[in-house]
Amino acid sequence: MSALDTPHPMPAATHHGPAATPAPGDEDRLARLYQRERILEVRGLSKHFDSHQGRTQALRDVSFSVHRREFVCVVGASGCGKSTLVRILAGLETASSGQVLVDGQPVAGPGRDRGMVFQGYSLFPWLTVKGNVMFGPRINGASHGAAEAQARQWLDLVGLGKFADAYPHQLSGGMRQRVAIARALVNEPRVMLMDEPFGALDAQTRARMQRHLLDLWHNIDLTVLFITHDLDEAIHLADRILVLKPHPGEVLEFIEVPVPRPRSPAQFASPAFQATKARLEALIHPPQAETEPVPADEEAPRMIRLTDVGDDVE
Ligand SMILES: Nc1ncnc2c1ncn2[C@@H]1O[C@H](COP(=O)(O)OP(=O)(O)O)[C@@H](O)[C@H]1O
Ligand SMILES: [Mg+2]
Repeated sequence: MSALDTPHPMPAATHHGPAATPAPGDEDRLARLYQRERILEVRGLSKHFDSHQGRTQALRDVSFSVHRREFVCVVGASGCGKSTLVRILAGLETASSGQVLVDGQPVAGPGRDRGMVFQGYSLFPWLTVKGNVMFGPRINGASHGAAEAQARQWLDLVGLGKFADAYPHQLSGGMRQRVAIARALVNEPRVMLMDEPFGALDAQTRARMQRHLLDLWHNIDLTVLFITHDLDEAIHLADRILVLKPHPGEVLEFIEVPVPRPRSPAQFASPAFQATKARLEALIHPPQAETEPVPADEEAPRMIRLTDVGDDVE
């Protein structure tokens, strides 16, 4: 019996909306994924911020779970609460209500079980590349020798073995993010939390970093929650994509990406990829957004013709 003969009922907490049509050869990848244990569970998470301007409801009743070795991307318009979500998962921010569980244990602050990589280069500028990666193990009680050996191993894995003694300012943006990834991985986290980690990189470096991250994820026991506002990036990387809507930040859908693995840039033009992108675009930018009235103080541009060249372009 093939996987096609055996429909797999999706657990309600991990699936919203209709299943996407899998591309040929990709039928059982997600079914296998759902059989793995749930590493991260988010239950009824809400968060509001109070200030003198009033209350901002950043997240409302967000629930989802992530399976072991799953790659989940989170997308949504700016201000929909993506960073707030990841900061709560990291334990850097407390929820107003709801719960986050990692391996069934409630999160009550930062911990080694969650690695973090953010967009800004959060490396210690006064430490070498190796020193940055050794920092976590040293804090956690490893001897200098053991921490150094671990740092070297992870720097080799991210292709920066030769730069162990360099300082962050001597590295390119992509290399610094690779150090940040090594620094997170050295603690062997259960979940990697990444908030637009490649958002500041140029397109080519970004593509290389995506490839590199997929290679790492393929080769080690890693579960990833990756925030991005780039839909191509999300589809290229993710098994599933959590779509948030703003004001307040709520789960719109948790969609399956029906693009087979291993992924390659050649798939960007594939029907499965394009259909997923169209679906995400419709969710994030519903058609009525285009008919929004122009703000009263915004003057409409008045176009005049400055050329009489006869060769019309439109
Ligand atoms: N520390 C804070 N104090 C007050 N409001 C905040 C704070 N952090 C975020 N917000 C508000 O919460 C909402 C979600 O923000 P954020 O999580 O940064 O969104 P995103 O990362 O999706 O762009 C926004 O309206 C933002 O202004
Ligand atoms: Mg953000």
